[in-house]
Amino acid sequence: MLKLSSRLSAVFDQVAAARKDIGPGRVIDVGSDHGLLAVSCLENGIASDVICTEIHEGPAEHSKEALKEAGFEERSQVFVTDGLKGISLKKGDIIVIAGMGGLNIIDIITRCLETESVEVLKDVRFIIQPQKSVNLVRKFFAERGFVFDDESVCTDRDFFYNIMRMSYGVSPYELGAFRECYGVLLPGKAEEGDELVKSYFAHLDEVFSIRSRSDTVVRAALEERKRHEDQ
Ligand SMILES: C[S@@+](CC[C@H](N)C(=O)[O-])C[C@H]1O[C@@H](n2cnc3c(N)ncnc32)[C@H](O)[C@@H]1O
Repeated sequence: MLKLSSRLSAVFDQVAAARKDIGPGRVIDVGSDHGLLAVSCLENGIASDVICTEIHEGPAEHSKEALKEAGFEERSQVFVTDGLKGISLKKGDIIVIAGMGGLNIIDIITRCLETESVEVLKDVRFIIQPQKSVNLVRKFFAERGFVFDDESVCTDRDFFYNIMRMSYGVSPYELGAFRECYGVLLPGKAEEGDELVKSYFAHLDEVFSIRSRSDTVVRAALEERKRHEDQ
């Protein structure tokens, strides 16, 4: 069995939780790179089969080799494509976009929403792990009506990473600065005493105190956080 990094392991945990939620189906790993997550999903029985997409030939070859070596050639397909271009979604699919910048993720999902029907999207789950622009990603998903089923944080080599598990919903809503910057479900986890989330928030407080000088959204989020703490 493959051993995943802490970051990919946290992503995997959310894929496993999504699978329990929607029943059997495929995992589509967008930007699969080395293909490790896809192999792990098959090894652990949380994907009937996998689709990997890669914008570059080299990583697509790595994914193919990893899947072949693990004996999953028959249950996998690897495409060189941009995001989900050319892939038709099916009910039960879990889409993973991990390790990419937030703006790239937003672009990929925007194009996906243009081509897929609400009927199918309702029975698909999305596992999103942005490397940066996390606040913009949260804002985008809320504005497109997605529901945050879970949010988690992990550390890997001294960096914090956010992982979001989402379902497609229909009604758009606004999060506001605090929830865009600190998370939708993470504040509740911090209140319940989750030590990892609490240390993540302490880290964000430091980063945001500098960024708030030039970023009004971050400033508003930080002010709301202080109000919460004073209560
Ligand atoms: C940093 S790696 C992360 C790989 C893996 N998902 C992970 O979390 O470890 C990002 C990968 O996404 C691929 N990528 C970037 N933009 C993409 C796009 N629009 N469509 C498909 N793949 C993309 C890159 O080629 C690269 O292999």
